[in-house]
Formats: sequence, C-alpha cells, structure tokens
Amino acid sequence: ENEPSVSITVVGASGDLAKKKIFPALFALYYEDCLPKVSIYFSFINPGLSFCNSNFAYKGYLRNMVSRTLTCRIDKRENCDEKMEQFLKRCFYHSGQYDSEENFAELDKKLKKHEGGRVSNRLFYLSIPPNIFIDAVKCASLSASSGNGWTRVIVEKPFGRDSESSAALTKALKNYLDEDQIFRIDHYLGKELVENLSVLRFSNLIFEPLWSRQYIRNVQLIFSEDFGTEGRGGYFDNYGIIRDIMQNHLLQILALFAMETPVSLDAEDIRNEKVKVLRSMRPLQLEDMVVGQYKSHTKGGVTYPAYTDDKTVPKDSLTPTFAAAALFIDNARWDGVPFLMKAGKALHSKRAEIRVQFRHVPGNLYNRNFGTDLDRATNELVIRVQPDEAIYLKINNKIPGLGMRLDRSNLNLHYAARYSKEIPDAYERLLLDAIEGERRLFIRSDELNAAWALFTPLLKELEEKKIIPEYYPYGSRGPVGAHYLAARYKVRWGDLN
Ligand code: BG6
Repeated sequence: ENEPSVSITVVGASGDLAKKKIFPALFALYYEDCLPKVSIYFSFINPGLSFCNSNFAYKGYLRNMVSRTLTCRIDKRENCDEKMEQFLKRCFYHSGQYDSEENFAELDKKLKKHEGGRVSNRLFYLSIPPNIFIDAVKCASLSASSGNGWTRVIVEKPFGRDSESSAALTKALKNYLDEDQIFRIDHYLGKELVENLSVLRFSNLIFEPLWSRQYIRNVQLIFSEDFGTEGRGGYFDNYGIIRDIMQNHLLQILALFAMETPVSLDAEDIRNEKVKVLRSMRPLQLEDMVVGQYKSHTKGGVTYPAYTDDKTVPKDSLTPTFAAAALFIDNARWDGVPFLMKAGKALHSKRAEIRVQFRHVPGNLYNRNFGTDLDRATNELVIRVQPDEAIYLKINNKIPGLGMRLDRSNLNLHYAARYSKEIPDAYERLLLDAIEGERRLFIRSDELNAAWALFTPLLKELEEKKIIPEYYPYGSRGPVGAHYLAARYKVRWGDLN
C-alpha cells in the first residue's frame, strides 16, 4: 500500500536513443516484472518535434516504436501484447521546452496527479543535446523534484569535449545535484561480457595470477561497426571517434580489465580501483595514434558514401571516424605492456572484443613446430563482447594422429550454446541499477576527469595541427597505419589473423 512509487521521465523522448534503447529497455523490464509495482513513465517531448498531440496518439506512437525496435528477446514471448497494453497504461507524454522551468513545473503537476499522494521517487533520463543540458538539469531539479522521495538524473555522454568543458559541466551540475544523484551512463559497462570481466578475473584461480606484465604481452581493445555515421553526422562531426568510443567505452573496459582487486564489490571500492588505473596512465602522444576517415566505395554495384557525403558534415571535415592508439599504464603490474585500442565506423565487420595475447613459452620444446613465427604459437584469450558473445582461449594442441604436428585450437565458451537465456540489453541493466541506486556501473566525476586528462592534450594537438586522417574505403579493414602502429610495439592485431 505505502510502497513508494517511481516516476521515470525521459527528457528528449522523441530522439533515437529513446526510441531504440530506453523505451524498449523499460518495456523489457516491465515485462519481466523488474520495475517497482507502482511506476509511471513520462515522455518529455519538445513541441517543435512533436508529431502527436494527445496521450492517445502518443500511446499509438509508443506502441509502434517499442514493438518495432524491441530487442527481439521479448516479442517472441507469450502475453507480449497484453503486457504491452498494461505498460502503455502507465505511459504518459508531456510536451514542453527542455530548458523551461515553467514546462517542468507543469510536468511536476502531472507527475503528482499520477503519483496519487504517495511518497514518490523520481528518475529523469536526459537524452538531449549537450547545449541545453545544464538548463534541463536545473529545471528538473528545481521544478520537478518535489516527489518527496529521491531524485536521480541519468545523463548520457558527451560529458563535454575536453577537460575544461567537462569540468565546467561537472561544476554546473553540482549547483543543482549532489554527486550521488548523478548517474553518468556508459552503456558498455552494462554489457554482459563487460560486467563478467571481474567475475572472470577474480573468481577463477587460473586467470588472475597471469594478469600482469609477467605473462601478458599486449592487450587489444577493438570496436568496429560495419556502418557509417548515417544520420548522426551533425553530432558526430563535433566529437569524432576518439571522443565517441575510445575516451569512454574502450577506456572503461581497459580500467576494469587492468584494475587491482577491489576491497569489495561496492561501487566506491570498484571505482576507486578504476580511477587509480586511469591516473597511472600516460597521456596519449600523437605518435602513438593513427586517425582515419572513410571514403566512398563501390562494391557489388552498390556505392557506399564517404563520411563527408553526409549533408550535415562539412566537405573539408578532418574528423576521425577511425582511430588506433597505443596506451601504457605506468604501474608495477603493467609497466611496458602496450594496450592497443582500435575503433572505427564503416569497417568490414561489426564487433567489440578484448584480446589478451600472452608471452612466448620460455624454452618451448615444441618451438620447431611453429617455424619462425612464435607469435602464432602464443596463447590468446578473446572476450567477444558482441555480437555472438563468447570467451575463448587459443591453445596449442597436438593434431590427432601418428605424427607430431600442432595446431591452435579454441577452448570455447560460446554463450548461445551454453546458456539458453537471452542476454538483456545493456540499458536494461543500467536502468534497473539507477532505480535501485546501484552506482557500480556508472562513471564517477573523478573517473571522468582522469579520462579526459588522458585524451585532452592529444585531441587539441590533432585539431590545432589539422592532422589529415588516413582515408580508408567504406567496408574495408581500416587504414594501414594501424598495422604500422601495432608493429612498432611488435604486436599484430588479433582480429586480422
Ligand atoms: C554510442 C556511440 O555510444 O555507442 C555510437 O555514440 C555507437 O556511435 C554506439 O554506434 C555503439 O553501441 P552498441 O551498443 O551498438 O555497440
């Protein structure tokens, strides 16, 4: 009876993220009965963008949008339609400007009406352009936080463009919210295999003892997409792939991968260890970075566009759509081990993976089986974050038979074969955590500062010197410079073997 209610308001609900991720995730949580019993979901939409003007029309839109973009794990199930109708009964829409206190005060009234006098907790998900971010936070915290329970705000990147703008944003946010009300999302932290990294390391005896410079030759963090910035050029051109993927998604994975054992699994203990790793890293150097941009390519009669063919991108844009970098952690565990990152759009495949290449076996009795190419004989642990989640370990094995020949085979934990349960989308995990006040998978402000400190000097240098990206054809494996960069550290990219 007296259970507090939770009101979730998505500010910027007509945007792509809300359509493709936030609402499908909310529905999936609803379907699984994971959301608090008394909960309502508001869509805050800018009237200029609005295509419907009543709750009824809005629900029609929502039904359509959610079912179209639903992560397929729900729509195959029973009672989906029935659940959808129940879900929609809790969905409301509110039209207004994201930076208007008055419009937020109106939202407050509506929220109160639906909350029906209960203690109510309020979660705001800001999925809006960075330039109106602070105003929206201000309005939400001043005019729509009278729910007499907690108020939390989920914010999406970009958290600034560099150290200075990020610090300014943090300072401005602090005027309206306490740090523990701010949930900075990095959805890669909500991915199943990223979350599993700590389990792999800290609950298996066989990995952690090997997890250092003593046994690991290099670590590779690879992100690639087989499509370009289609439709997002306007946003992307102001940020580029380094800010879009490396400074956050890949760096977060790196921190989790490389951190020391935390005191406990509490959010603060984990984030303390992550920030230590970030602060032990050397800021990136221009010579340890390769940048690229995709150009048009015709294949099988189809012409794929160049990045600069996008109408919202200036013709002379130098913004990188690909980058490769070598990073180093100057601490006792990782001294001298290259952490190579590679991120790109419009490449030949879509994948995100972590590759750990181990050192050569000393005095290997079987060396002669590998000729001169000992790199091919080393163990490699691959954590395939997506698609087709898997963890596999490459080992040397005797080919059965009377001879003595070896090959490399995989010990393979293939999720689809091992687990019958579908993997929830990252946004489901993160939304649920925000509702439960679990901060483990959200970015603390000191982590953010440390992340920017690593990338800011390099980003400035790239822009000041107007470094020309290496052009690569749409759908290719990216600029050849990435190979030279890796070769400088005696590394071969594992995804190309
Ligand atoms: C976002 C980036 O953070 O992550 C996008 O802004 C990118 O450019 C996306 O496409 C990739 O996420 P996922 O979950 O589809 O791998």
